[in-house]
Amino acid sequence: MSALSQKHLLGIKYLKNADVESIFNTTTEFKKVLQRKIKKVPSLRGETISNIFFENSTRTKLSFELAQKRLSADIINFSHTNSSVKKGESLLDTVTNILAMKVEMIVWRHWQVGSANFIAQHTKTTVINAGDGTNEHPTQALLDAYSLHEKFGSLKGLNVLILGDILHSRVAMSNIYCLKMLGANIKLCCPKTLLPKHITELGVSYEEDLNKALLWADAVNVLRIQLERQNQAYFPSREEYIQHWSLTNQKLNRSKKNMVILHPGPINRGLEIQSTVADAENSLILNQVENGVAVRMAIMYLLSKQA
Ligand code: CP
Repeated sequence: MSALSQKHLLGIKYLKNADVESIFNTTTEFKKVLQRKIKKVPSLRGETISNIFFENSTRTKLSFELAQKRLSADIINFSHTNSSVKKGESLLDTVTNILAMKVEMIVWRHWQVGSANFIAQHTKTTVINAGDGTNEHPTQALLDAYSLHEKFGSLKGLNVLILGDILHSRVAMSNIYCLKMLGANIKLCCPKTLLPKHITELGVSYEEDLNKALLWADAVNVLRIQLERQNQAYFPSREEYIQHWSLTNQKLNRSKKNMVILHPGPINRGLEIQSTVADAENSLILNQVENGVAVRMAIMYLLSKQA
């Protein structure tokens, strides 16, 4: 297990192939720990980590917290809704005060693009980006790619379709960087209004017709329609979106036999994905959540070796 090339995990775009390989190998070792009766190792004993979340989260926050407990780290959780941010304290003052309590690592979620980089630049601590606006969500992409790697053995030449609200999705950006690095072919499918300008310059293709795209795909990563980030109507109606872009059993009828389905969560059941599709045997959605703990253990362990 070699340490990472970076002090921080701010985005997949900063990682090298060897970093991802090291994260995957370490994840596999930690998965073995999580199968044991006592699912705990002393790897981060004496380290203090703060989870600083300015946005709502279920999976990422709980998964990081559990991963820290499994590694025997001490943790403090910050939620902006009941903090002195409400009294006007600045972002940087908030962080420097938390760091003054002798915190070695920060897990950071905020709605502002670039805010994780800002904290990394203005403090001496190690920062893990747990989602900054529409920019990146690197740990989600790593757990998505690890789940595909576990299923298919290798991602080289694998056809991965990313379906849904790509315009507002940090998961899409991190997945594109990560899957490309690992040699997968990537196609995007969504209404044209939800496709970011110039995105095909990243070496991905676009298909508006989901039925055609499904004939090509080995795996589909379905993204949530982020209604809270949409300040205008990107499609005429919910019914129209469902008709053309919702992943349903009917549309899946003609897809490849062993195709698998991913979704980073939270799911809008009945909108971007039909409930029975989300819960089907070929759905990796709960495998993703399970793998998230081991992937985050691996990332924090490898970054702690850097410091
Ligand atoms: N996938 C994801 O980031 O989910 P949460 O917003 O619940 O953390």
